[in-house]
Amino acid sequence: MKINISDLTWDQFIYPRGAKSQQTISAYVEALAIGAQFPPIKIQRVFNYADGNETTEATIILDGIHRWSAFKEKGIKEIAAVEWKDKPIDYEKNKMPLLLESAQCNTSHGDRLSSNDKKRIARDVASTDPECKWTESALAEKLGVIQQTVNTWISDIRARQKASRNTVILRLSRLGWLQEKIAETSGITRGRIAQIVNNTNFGEINILLSQGRDMDYIARHYNMDLPLVWALRLEGKTDQEKFKELDWGLRTWDQWYFNQCDERFGDDWPGRIPAQLVAHTLFYFTKSGDLVLDLMAGGGVVSDVSLVFERKCLSFDLATRDNRPDILYHHWDPRNWKWPITKQPDLIFFDPPYFDKKAGDYSEKSISSFPRDEYLKFFEEFFTLMKQHAKQTTRLAFINADWRDFQNKAALDETPEDSILADDYLNILSKTGWQRTHIIQVPLSSERFDAGIVSAMQKKKILGVTSRYLIIARRS
Ligand SMILES: C[S@@+](CC[C@H](N)C(=O)[O-])C[C@H]1O[C@@H](n2cnc3c(N)ncnc32)[C@H](O)[C@@H]1O
Repeated sequence: MKINISDLTWDQFIYPRGAKSQQTISAYVEALAIGAQFPPIKIQRVFNYADGNETTEATIILDGIHRWSAFKEKGIKEIAAVEWKDKPIDYEKNKMPLLLESAQCNTSHGDRLSSNDKKRIARDVASTDPECKWTESALAEKLGVIQQTVNTWISDIRARQKASRNTVILRLSRLGWLQEKIAETSGITRGRIAQIVNNTNFGEINILLSQGRDMDYIARHYNMDLPLVWALRLEGKTDQEKFKELDWGLRTWDQWYFNQCDERFGDDWPGRIPAQLVAHTLFYFTKSGDLVLDLMAGGGVVSDVSLVFERKCLSFDLATRDNRPDILYHHWDPRNWKWPITKQPDLIFFDPPYFDKKAGDYSEKSISSFPRDEYLKFFEEFFTLMKQHAKQTTRLAFINADWRDFQNKAALDETPEDSILADDYLNILSKTGWQRTHIIQVPLSSERFDAGIVSAMQKKKILGVTSRYLIIARRS
């Protein structure tokens, strides 16, 4: 086929500028002047191709940049071309195969790729291929080098990827995921998962600690997340010893105030609760090995603390993220209630949005977009569903705060009919078959309010809300 020179795109990711030689182009221009014939160039039609701010279709050159440049310089309008695949392909999804096809063409003829070009290509491919689909030998074949060379180029990338893949598997297994579920999520066979879980040795953690390395260093060293490193370090210790090692004072009374969240556990998340609050709940209301179910997991703090305190934990939320494979998507939907697990939990942890607070931060499917009546009805149905799936000994740990209509209103002018208070939740709990056993004060920090706001509130006699409570209940 013949193709217009001006319709072709030189993609510098696929064929870098550094690999283009002006000397070769000049030689080709001279050859064209005396009527030399050139073999066709290799091209590929693609879609989903970024061009400035837009994505469009393009025809990119896989092989023959020098011939194409020489034709352009000579003012020739068309060039003979062959297609790699006879249909347009998705550029973003096929970037690496395109890169390797181009590399392979350029290992055998023309201005061959330099060793540095090949190394860059091998590293680019390896770093975007965490599942290691491109083996060292396949890359070696494409790049025209021996496997040993590819090994030395990419061994650091592969080692890191392996560590982080093993990390995910260890985390999910410690949280109580079944091996077949881990296999389904990670694409790794059950046999291999069993090997990783049973044989991964992190004995060096204590050596590194005795050499004065800190936990952040150790997490980086193993390419692991910090909560997992803590879990491995504190494995086998009692809960009380863990509190001590984490530098958390253990509260003996039913008021648990924490100035701020402990950044080591849970992701930064709108409405995040302190890890210390979760740890106290686990300490008083569960035992080692118990199953915790986190219904609206947000930043995953319950999962992280469960990992450290050796509880199993299954977590669900509308919001899921690549870095949190332990949080599964689930929409608690009043039009279609579904319970996602079969095993009955020992503790149900339930930290929902406090009515419409932070509604703008959550998905539009979040219950924070419900009007008051619907929001309360949601709780009635949800507590009923929880009870159906709870065993006699299951505890429910439910966190909420009074939602009072206090914004811009003096305390005396508030309208209680518009509020949602602790009494409303307690009534719903008892109506749906739950008996409250404890109410623990877990106040919000007031340090987030600046002096200007505080003084304006005082002037208007506005009474703010920092009370928050943790209601513990069991089946009545
Ligand atoms: C207060 S946040 C949880 C914060 C979490 N405990 C933490 O410390 O990071 C409430 C969560 O409920 C989730 N959510 C709201 N409505 C939901 C629904 N109908 N189904 C599932 N998740 C929902 C939101 O996505 C949000 O992450």
